[in-house]
Amino acid sequence: MTKTILVTGGAGFIGSHTAVELLQRDYDVVIADDLSNSSAKAIDVVSSLGGGGNVAFHKVDLTDESLVAELFDEHPIEAVVHFAGLKAVGESVEKPIHYYRTNLISTMNLLSQMANHQVWDFVFSSSATVYGTPEQLPIPETAPTGATNPYGRTKLMIEEICQDLAAADDRWRMSLLRYFNPVGAHASGQLGEDPRGIPNNLVPFVMQVAVGRRDKLQVFGGDWDTHDGSGVRDYIHVVDLAAGHLAALETLSEGCEAYNLGTGNGSSVLDIISTAEQVSGKSIPYDIVERRSGDIATSLADPSKANQELGWRADRNLEAMLTDSWRWQSMNPMGFADSSD
Ligand code: WQD
Repeated sequence: MTKTILVTGGAGFIGSHTAVELLQRDYDVVIADDLSNSSAKAIDVVSSLGGGGNVAFHKVDLTDESLVAELFDEHPIEAVVHFAGLKAVGESVEKPIHYYRTNLISTMNLLSQMANHQVWDFVFSSSATVYGTPEQLPIPETAPTGATNPYGRTKLMIEEICQDLAAADDRWRMSLLRYFNPVGAHASGQLGEDPRGIPNNLVPFVMQVAVGRRDKLQVFGGDWDTHDGSGVRDYIHVVDLAAGHLAALETLSEGCEAYNLGTGNGSSVLDIISTAEQVSGKSIPYDIVERRSGDIATSLADPSKANQELGWRADRNLEAMLTDSWRWQSMNPMGFADSSD
């Protein structure tokens, strides 16, 4: 009997790559996305790359609980992978109510309707941002949490809501996946990161410089306490990340557990620039400027809990990540806006 999985935010970067992996594993997938920060073209690509299972797409605002209920009325959903949400750190500082309303109400609607329909399996897209400024490196799941912006606080609040639900009813089986820095793209070059406007994140900005959409990169700080003075992060290939969601889904057990999805390896901004130049054959001009507010020197995952308990490990290295990012960007210089029709 094919299992049906609801993937919210499934037109987005990580959600679409996870939907492809689910389909290839012969799950049926229901994608719910409001397309506020993604393209419906991604759904067509997911369908073409997926193969195995069936795909249904609903353009839906998850802050409307009646619309959420309809998803469960219409499809035999057995588990939910929840990506949908606003995720720009800087924007969350400017518009906190918008972030709290969207991220929290949509999640509470989802969890309420899951319980109403006896659906108890939940995988949540959380973030390493819940750790705030880490006291120890690499960061274990037992590290203190303390978000430093409204976006991160919505992730932390949702984690705590999940913990409270699991404590109240032992039918809940929940995994909270704390991502480090997702990058890369599907090997076909047909699916990848397609941020609206000026990219907040490093790798899409670097790739837009490489493809000629932007003139120069600004490196936020060259005096961090790292091997070359630029910020260090734990970059993880989006397909490895997608596989982590399937591993979590297929090992769910009673209760609510948090897992770091990272590689445990750090790369600096200058490492990213030099590797991107190697894989693209393009020069990536940059200026080192002042630090970005809210940044930290180093973020690095201890992924051993996920390795051991989920039987999952990220195995694509930085060169593979940026090779796949470049293939996507060079094939689609304007992202999904680039594809014909
Ligand atoms: C990486 C490094 C920057 C852009 C963010 C969110 C986090 C998560 C992942 C959602 C840092 C430097 C960046 C640029 C630069 N998102 N940089 N020039 O900040 O580690 O994490 O994305 O869950 O919540 O905070 O990622 O890609 O923005 O920055 O020098 O134009 O690149 O200073 O050292 P970050 P990032």
